[in-house]
Amino acid sequence: MNTSPRGHAVWDPGQYHKFGDHRLRPALELFERAMLALGDRVPNEVYDLGCGGGEIARIMADRWPDAHVVGLDSSAEMLVKAEAAGASRVEWLEADVRTWEAKPKADLLYSNAMFQWVDGHPQVFPHMMDQLAPGGVMAVQMPLSFGQTSHRLLRETLEGFGTPDLLKAVSRKWVEEADWYYDLLKPRSSFLDIWEVRYLQVLQGDDPVLEWVKGSALRPVLTAMAKDEADRFLAAYGAALREAYPKRAGGETLFPFHRLFMVVGK
Ligand SMILES: C[S@@+](CC[C@H](N)C(=O)[O-])C[C@H]1O[C@@H](n2cnc3c(N)ncnc32)[C@H](O)[C@@H]1O
Repeated sequence: MNTSPRGHAVWDPGQYHKFGDHRLRPALELFERAMLALGDRVPNEVYDLGCGGGEIARIMADRWPDAHVVGLDSSAEMLVKAEAAGASRVEWLEADVRTWEAKPKADLLYSNAMFQWVDGHPQVFPHMMDQLAPGGVMAVQMPLSFGQTSHRLLRETLEGFGTPDLLKAVSRKWVEEADWYYDLLKPRSSFLDIWEVRYLQVLQGDDPVLEWVKGSALRPVLTAMAKDEADRFLAAYGAALREAYPKRAGGETLFPFHRLFMVVGK
């Protein structure tokens, strides 16, 4: 069993990948921008940090057949899923990005939807820049979930449940604003592109927003609760989400989702 560096979140690959298409789209958009930033440079050392099920690591191995491609993740469960997806020449590595060091230095550090789980951005991002070879590129995408209705309702519902520690953990803003990353990375970079996208995700089925959050932000919450408390919490949170994200006439649910992208050259 593996816990994330946040301490509670045991990953459930099946739940996370229920919304595979919506989760893959920003990953591919980030990858395209990273390729543009690399230009004519053909990378030798390529890392997918927090690779999860390893989809992008596999795409990178196909894109650069001579590169050493590493899919790195701190979750043994996720890496088992990545390996089980079939033979590939990606090297799967269990490690924590906060202490991991690239040897040799990386030409591309790519990370989709991981750094929002990693504490200590003022130290972690400079550490990442130190792992890049001169001219290397770091490409990062993180959800800007804190201000979303789904996360506000999570905090409000949790007030009547769980421990104060849990509420405190969920109430913390893990991802900063775009200009904060600009100020941190600008002195360490040769170029810097930061942008935000708000996707209007069209979800199907019953309680789709609850199902979505179960695969991400709810992991530490549910892991910390006893079963009967978790059931009561899910009933209350599910009702709040249904009211905030009503089904449309055709049965689908609109779930706006805000994400921050950064592509940085060393
Ligand atoms: C939301 S998933 C994203 C997976 C994949 N990149 C994707 O886009 O589908 C976040 C992943 O980051 C991993 N992770 C979280 N903290 C980490 C850390 N400190 N070091 C390495 N991996 C970490 C988790 O285990 C999980 O697989």
